Amino acid sequence: MNIVITGSTKGIGYGMAREFLKRGHNIMISSRRTEAVALAVTDLGNEFPDCTVLGQPCDVAEFDQVEALWDAAESGFSQVDIWINNAGRDGMKVPFFALPKDDYMQTVKTNIVGLLHCNRVVIPKLYQQGGGMIWNMEGFGSNGMTRRGVSVYGATKCALRYFTKSVAEELAGTPVKMCYLSPGIVVTDMLVPPPDQRGEGWEQVKKIMNTLADTVETVTPFLVEGILAADRNGAAVRWLTRPKIAWRFISSRFLKRDIFTPLGL
Ligand SMILES: NC(=O)c1ccc[n+]([C@@H]2O[C@H](COP(=O)([O-])OP(=O)(O)OC[C@H]3O[C@@H](n4cnc5c(N)ncnc54)[C@H](OP(=O)(O)O)[C@@H]3O)[C@@H](O)[C@H]2O)c1
Repeated sequence: MNIVITGSTKGIGYGMAREFLKRGHNIMISSRRTEAVALAVTDLGNEFPDCTVLGQPCDVAEFDQVEALWDAAESGFSQVDIWINNAGRDGMKVPFFALPKDDYMQTVKTNIVGLLHCNRVVIPKLYQQGGGMIWNMEGFGSNGMTRRGVSVYGATKCALRYFTKSVAEELAGTPVKMCYLSPGIVVTDMLVPPPDQRGEGWEQVKKIMNTLADTVETVTPFLVEGILAADRNGAAVRWLTRPKIAWRFISSRFLKRDIFTPLGL
């Protein structure tokens, strides 16, 4: 299959790209930075010489760049089977009234405007080629949960679930399927701030992450297997379910997880 993943030069997007390639599929790598795209394409191309690894820089907040990403994928693969809207950003962890305008605008542009642009470009194209699947990446806030310092990110991910549900309803009966992807809590650059920006609450956050978080290498095989197995509009692949969360808290009494030390963080 031919798969496009936005925001796939690092983190969960890159991890999913590797897992698809391991299973013999072809990948289009993308993110805003040309050098990062070139590096990822070279590294993955060398690691998986029997698969096609393409790359195209794209800021999902720019409609014409999303169109160019589709065009590059279509001309490189001739058909796109799966498009994953993974690109996302989180801002500074401060109350909204202290958040700089540029910070929340950037989050909204990537997580909301980018989501809309990608779906607006890709849905008609998938329809024209006879079908395909789109997966939208959820995050904290998708289930309505709130937390101090995450109001904007949470609002964007809450909106993403609403949008995905609405558009899946609109697509019912068509060959285009719209689905939900949720990685749980994953140790990536988005989640782990650089040492000089960790602040007072970091030790507490770290404690919770040691209970609930996982690595890219643990989560992405699950996500990719779920995507490849799904065949219905409105399907959801979610890693951190309520029973799993409950079990993690119960088992934390006798099982001490340390997710950071092996990663050198
Ligand atoms: N990590 C978690 O615990 C977690 C939990 C739930 C949901 N998620 C979601 O999972 C997705 C991936 O997160 P991650 O943790 O892997 O983040 P990450 O490590 O920071 O990677 C984000 C990727 O998106 C790209 N990107 C950022 N803004 C972009 C834009 N405007 N246009 C195109 N690409 C852009 C980045 O590259 P450039 O900066 O070079 O563009 C990078 O490749 C996000 O949607 C996030 O909200 C993450």
